[in-house]
Amino acid sequence: MHSDPEFGDDKFTHARAVVAASEFNQAVLDTVADGIITISGDGRIRSFNKASERIFGYRASEVVGKNVALLMPQSYAMRHDRYLAAYAASGQSKVINERPELEGKRKSGDLFPIEVSVTEVSHAGEPIFVGVIRDITDRKRMDRMKAEFISTVSHELRTPLTSISGALSLMRSNALGGLPPKIEHLVEIALRNCTRLSALVNDLLDIEKLSSGKVTYQMEFWRVEKLVSDAVDDNIGFGETFDVKILAELNGSEHEIYVDRQRFLQILGNFISNAVKFSPKGNSVRLRVSYTNAAARILVIDQGSGIAKEKHDRLFKRFSQVDSSDIRKAGGTGLGLAITKELAEQMGGKTGFDSELGQGSTFWVEFPLVSRDKVAVLKPR
Ligand SMILES: Nc1ncnc2c1ncn2[C@@H]1O[C@H](COP(=O)(O)OP(=O)(O)O)[C@@H](O)[C@H]1O
Ligand SMILES: [Mg+2]
Repeated sequence: MHSDPEFGDDKFTHARAVVAASEFNQAVLDTVADGIITISGDGRIRSFNKASERIFGYRASEVVGKNVALLMPQSYAMRHDRYLAAYAASGQSKVINERPELEGKRKSGDLFPIEVSVTEVSHAGEPIFVGVIRDITDRKRMDRMKAEFISTVSHELRTPLTSISGALSLMRSNALGGLPPKIEHLVEIALRNCTRLSALVNDLLDIEKLSSGKVTYQMEFWRVEKLVSDAVDDNIGFGETFDVKILAELNGSEHEIYVDRQRFLQILGNFISNAVKFSPKGNSVRLRVSYTNAAARILVIDQGSGIAKEKHDRLFKRFSQVDSSDIRKAGGTGLGLAITKELAEQMGGKTGFDSELGQGSTFWVEFPLVSRDKVAVLKPR
């Protein structure tokens, strides 16, 4: 065969280009901060980048060809093989397309929190899984510190606040003799601000407890309409300070829901206080219950300012107030709806709203209707 120098050169150049490209890809893989691990369909590790070595403490040569279960705690490793098998059969996975927080196991045996995302690619007709692993130990530690800090500060604030507001209430009650009008006015203002501050502290404590799963619920059967009329009674006074009436439109239904009464009233209380705060003087806020076969939806309807469409997504997030001037105008922390949603969901309910700017708003919470018999059958004493 005669050699064609040009063709030979071409082949050589091509091979060199392939090597260069592969070196380039490797260099990129090795500089990413996240661990990138590829796994074959049977769960064996095919590649392990530099960051993976750093995160897990293994050299690539120690783990390539081994089952990826090596990098997981025992409890999860056993399930993983079944996951892979189930995925192969159904194409459904818990990890693919999601970003769950799991635990990884370092070579030393230490467990640590990781965030994992897995994608599937097909290589030479074979499925390959690409796992991107992020060590979130530091983030978790920060989250914990933040939560502890909030909780400590809130607790430390609460005690002196209780004492200040106790003292002020006593002064106002005339138990210590009447106060000159000017001082009485100042005491009134101080007391109102105390109430605001303790509402903030309570909200902060609630948010912290809700996100760390520390809220306990005293679940009981309650007639929906009884709860609704209690909520109205609780908030009528607040309505009066804004010159807004609170009305319940009830029809005497006996339907029951299964909730923690106090927490349920907190949910309605927040909807009602918002509705009152954002209603013009002289308006009314109406409460109504609508039933479907399976659920009771409690609606809190106002004809106040309404909420612009583009602000809807943010509403149930923490510290979100549509307009930061709201705080000054109406008071509040922007935590109420975040707490409300979380409370409802943790008790098995849902929340939502309809609103248009200038057209008022309707906020609702929905709980499944329950019958005592059914629950009694499920849980015999
Ligand atoms: N009924 C309502 N009408 C108009 N705006 C509302 C209504 N309910 C809630 N909002 C808007 O949503 C924001 C967040 O409410 P919330 O989480 O309860 O916090 P806060 O009451 O402490 O401000 C409010 O500040 C307000 O901008
Ligand atoms: Mg509120």
